[in-house]
Amino acid sequence: MPILVTGATGTVGSSLVRQLVDAGEKVRALTRYPGAIGRKPPAGVEVVYGDLGKPETLVDPLTGVERMHLIAMNGYGVLSTAEQIVALAERAGVRRLTHLGHNDPSKDDEHPLEKPNRLVQQAIERSGLEWTHVYPGEFMANTLDWAESVKSGRRVRAPFGGWNSAMIHEADIAAVIMTALLEDGHAGATYWPTGPEPVRRRDAVRLIGEAIGAEVTFDELTPEQAREEWQSVYPDEVIEWFLDMGADPESNAHVAPDFEQVTGRRGRTFAQWAADHADDFR
Ligand SMILES: NC(=O)c1ccc[n+]([C@@H]2O[C@H](COP(=O)([O-])OP(=O)(O)OC[C@H]3O[C@@H](n4cnc5c(N)ncnc54)[C@H](OP(=O)(O)O)[C@@H]3O)[C@@H](O)[C@H]2O)c1
Repeated sequence: MPILVTGATGTVGSSLVRQLVDAGEKVRALTRYPGAIGRKPPAGVEVVYGDLGKPETLVDPLTGVERMHLIAMNGYGVLSTAEQIVALAERAGVRRLTHLGHNDPSKDDEHPLEKPNRLVQQAIERSGLEWTHVYPGEFMANTLDWAESVKSGRRVRAPFGGWNSAMIHEADIAAVIMTALLEDGHAGATYWPTGPEPVRRRDAVRLIGEAIGAEVTFDELTPEQAREEWQSVYPDEVIEWFLDMGADPESNAHVAPDFEQVTGRRGRTFAQWAADHADDFR
């Protein structure tokens, strides 16, 4: 039976698809744009159309599926259709579901940025599925936002050079999800995987430079300059959330044991991530 992977064209999902195929699993990859997949999926992957915002389009993709991975996002928004998706999944015979999302435990259920995430979480937990939530720390892949300026001018313009973040490689997030999909013992668990060590923003820039064999300059922006630069890129509440986090240099530095506990391995470092992605910055 195929495993249904939603978000299959994304950062984590494409790695999950590859790892599942390498493990010998049959994969059904969901996308809104089956005709326009940028990176070719591995041979044998069944690519199907479906829109998480239109649950009726998921009836066919869910047919014959017992295990699925759900990405609980839609751009910068969060799924508002989780309740219907979960009901459809149960009706189709899905038993096990992994959920990739975001959760800030320091905020309560009614916080405007957290409420939609908590509603997804609650819809999943109310189901009879064997669910596992995966709430990773910051993705190393977020630094791909710097790729164009590194390519064109060997510079990065960003605030908070001293901000320390236990960023995680997308392949390691996918590895946690894959373990929960394939192995027993993860039902009802919530994992908070991070990378193996925190990395300061200016060190991440230096490590990207080392990976491409060139010096990359870090131009530190003030929070005000960053707010201005980000205005055309992110919604206001997301900008304020970033600036809030950045104000405390250690707010994201905690290294959680979850990755090692679930996979039995040490997580990939930022230097490894930069080497894996060197071509994106050249
Ligand atoms: N970035 C971080 O630091 C961070 C930290 C913690 C948690 N997270 C969580 O990680 C998730 C993002 O993962 P990612 O970076 O791997 O994703 P991504 O690269 O941004 O890709 C988004 C994926 O979602 C799919 N998608 C979006 N809207 C859809 C819809 N309406 N119907 C069907 N598919 C839809 C896209 O598929 P198509 O376009 O092909 O349809 C694409 O595969 C979010 O839930 C976020 O909260 C991120």
